[in-house]
Amino acid sequence: MQNREERQTYKDYLQVLKECSPYDFCEYSDNSIDRRIQKIMQDYRLNLDELIYKTRTDEEFVELVVEAITVNTTELFRDPPVWKHLYEKVYWALKSRPKINIWHAGCSSGQEVYSNLILLDIMGLADKCEIYATDISKKSLEVANSGSYKYNFNFQKYLNNFQDAFPNLPKEKFLGYFDIDESKDRMSVKPSLLGKAKFIKHDLVKQPLPFYNKFDLIFCRNVLIYFNSGLQSRIIQKFHDTLFPGGAMVLGTHESINGFFKTKFAKNGPVYERTNTFHFKY
Ligand SMILES: C[S@@+](CC[C@H](N)C(=O)[O-])C[C@H]1O[C@@H](n2cnc3c(N)ncnc32)[C@H](O)[C@@H]1O
Repeated sequence: MQNREERQTYKDYLQVLKECSPYDFCEYSDNSIDRRIQKIMQDYRLNLDELIYKTRTDEEFVELVVEAITVNTTELFRDPPVWKHLYEKVYWALKSRPKINIWHAGCSSGQEVYSNLILLDIMGLADKCEIYATDISKKSLEVANSGSYKYNFNFQKYLNNFQDAFPNLPKEKFLGYFDIDESKDRMSVKPSLLGKAKFIKHDLVKQPLPFYNKFDLIFCRNVLIYFNSGLQSRIIQKFHDTLFPGGAMVLGTHESINGFFKTKFAKNGPVYERTNTFHFKY
């Protein structure tokens, strides 16, 4: 627990970062960001003045700060009930569409995107989908583009998630999408899925959208939780305006819409549908 003085110190630092870099974390929620700034100072053995000096003078260091401030935790088929709902409800409703546009905002190292591609491929929908995936973290996007993940630490968890989401599908379905090399501790997405999503570096807070498309579905899971409520509302508005009439948003299981935009979406399981037009029929 920090005192008020310490908290003000971190706020001052974020203001400096905002002024001298393209990044603005001033509206990230207090607790998570304060802890991360503290850790940066410990890891690089810097006091506040030194941290500010380095931030003002060293662009590469600023990128390291961004990596350290953002939380990149993710999994394949994270929160299985969400994938079950997408499989049983949402994608069946979209099946007849000639084209499906999808945006993963805050995609981290790509596990959410490949989970979606696997599901879409199983349902025979992958070829009619245009998928964009964006994140502020260059390092995460490099991993996402490679589609290659540590095997030992992850595999069983990922397989369990898949089986929880789709109890009627054999586990071979999941295995068929990966090349596994236990000796190198790698599981790599098969080349047939690589390149199907466009991974783009993009800052949801500061940058205009990097595409002109409207979307049928926007995933933004476990990202808004790090923003304060004012920033959350502005990002939700961005998503609302970027969705096609009848489109929907998938948020994290601990995230929801508050304030004005609550009236603009209807919650259907884990999915938020734009309400001022027609709904998915299910
Ligand atoms: C906890 S991960 C969530 C990954 C994935 N959506 C999931 O639920 O498994 C949060 C991601 O949001 C990204 N992020 C944070 N602030 C961002 C911003 N301003 N613009 C774009 N991405 C951001 C982080 O870099 C991180 O990869």
